[in-house]
Amino acid sequence: MPRTAIVGTGHWVPARVVTNDDLTELMDTSDAWIRERTGIEERRWVESGTTGADMAVRASRMALEDAGLAASDVEAVVLATLSPDHFFPGTGVFVARELGLGTAPAIDLRAQCSGFVYGLQVSDALIRTRQYRTILLIGVEIQSTGLDVSTDGRDMAVLFGDGAGAVVLQATDEEGRGVLSTHLHAEGEFAEILWGDAPASWRHPRISREDFEQRRIYPSMVGRDVFRHAVTRMPEVVGEALEANDLGTDDIDLLIPHQANLRISQMVQKRLGLSDDQVFNNIRKYGNTTAATIPIALSEAVREGRLGRGDLVCFTAFGSGFTWGAALLRW
Ligand code: UT7
Repeated sequence: MPRTAIVGTGHWVPARVVTNDDLTELMDTSDAWIRERTGIEERRWVESGTTGADMAVRASRMALEDAGLAASDVEAVVLATLSPDHFFPGTGVFVARELGLGTAPAIDLRAQCSGFVYGLQVSDALIRTRQYRTILLIGVEIQSTGLDVSTDGRDMAVLFGDGAGAVVLQATDEEGRGVLSTHLHAEGEFAEILWGDAPASWRHPRISREDFEQRRIYPSMVGRDVFRHAVTRMPEVVGEALEANDLGTDDIDLLIPHQANLRISQMVQKRLGLSDDQVFNNIRKYGNTTAATIPIALSEAVREGRLGRGDLVCFTAFGSGFTWGAALLRW
């Protein structure tokens, strides 16, 4: 059975930098509060007219170039987002169209902050079972246009950013390379703890003035509960992945945790007993870009020379649903 290797990485973020100080002009907050609680200093927000597909295409082109492959080599697209450009069809078909992928299938996947890790499991299964040899896996998010940027929405608005990350996955028989295992979980009991209520297909109509008045159009969260579950579930699922492969925390060369909050990543690191050079964080620059945080961070880590052939890489994510997961791979 072949294994799945990451043979190219890429990312793209909008040019518009929004600093914590910029946010103080929109809402009652402060640079000190945001830095202290989240570690975020700035984030990128799209200019009007930029779509998620635009960002995903740019990240994908970079990943393909890095892999030394042409778009025509891609046999399928797996795209994770909670902020599709349209209610339907999914963003994947627009990306495939722009890249010129012909009739390659586009699989859109909804697992919020865990979208990239979920997408990796799906892609890995498709490659191992020889359905496809080369898959483009993308995480992309436009959060800024959905946030309440007044003081009422400040608990959410300061956290999120926009961006895209992509990886090219390919079947490999190379010894000591590729995905070792992926581990996913979900617990719908907590669906409303972090969610976007509207628009909702079951309401007549799907979106109404009432949704605006009652603020249902904005994402909402019980921050402390999310924090508590995140710092429990991520170390737990990393432990599950290590155990499945007879490995320990000392074996990890680089952990790339979903970038939700620097305090969450630091607590995950502490609970796993990892050193600073075993963990990659870039939330300071981008905030939480949801499905895009891990592929953006991976792309940056590669370009900073943080990964060498054979290194043990671990991804872990936690988010709305709740959904969470981890993956282990040899670089
Ligand atoms: O991928 C998963 C996505 N979500 C997350 O990862 C979020 C996880 N949760 C968190 O990161 C934290 O809960 C937050 C950073 C969101 C909030 O930190 P906290 O320490 O849990 O603060 P809190 O919600 O308990 O609020 C403390 C105070 C409140 O004021 P009072 O009631 O004590 O007077 C809030 O109104 O901070 C206030 N506050 C703010 N102040 C300035 C909330 N947001 C802000 C803000 N600026 N942006």
